[in-house]
Amino acid sequence: MLVTAGRYSVRMPRIAVVPGSFDPVTLGHLDVIARAAGLFDELHVLVVHNPGKTALIPFADRVTLIKDSLAEAKVQGNVVVTSWSVGLLVDYCTEVGASVLIKGVRGQTDLVYETPMAIVNRDLAGVETVFLLPAPEHAHVSSSLVRQVNSLGGDVRPYVPGAVARFLRPSRP
Ligand code: PNS
Repeated sequence: MLVTAGRYSVRMPRIAVVPGSFDPVTLGHLDVIARAAGLFDELHVLVVHNPGKTALIPFADRVTLIKDSLAEAKVQGNVVVTSWSVGLLVDYCTEVGASVLIKGVRGQTDLVYETPMAIVNRDLAGVETVFLLPAPEHAHVSSSLVRQVNSLGGDVRPYVPGAVARFLRPSRP
């Protein structure tokens, strides 16, 4: 983005935010994060408290697990992982100068759920939402499915990064 003041033009970095509960981060999330990291100068992966959901993994651990998972997948460089627990999501965007929110959409249901939030976030602060499609092999993966499979003793390794699988089941070889 080129910002001009008088005779001077400065290229400002394009900053985007990938928000979510990430309870836990899945391979689908990682896929979307990696795609978004290639599109923007700086990408903030933001763990946001969702009051509508009862969490499995403590807030701080979710941040650590995303950092560890990105390191394992060698997705780093322009990616920052942090959290936001008070106030609007767009307040964080304003604070860090982000103009775009990234949401992964797996199908029509996600789009229906995300559309009103995208419009409200644009109304509130002019922040646009960009929807990205995950790779088809991740299209059925969700954090809630992982939580359910895990709570019933199933193997979640096909759906989550290694760091998450080890966190959820430290005793598994
Ligand atoms: O992974 P999730 O639970 O689907 O993520 C939902 C999340 C955290 C992105 C959503 O709940 C959210 O945007 N929360 C921030 C609260 C906010 O700013 N609300 C007003 C505009 S929608």
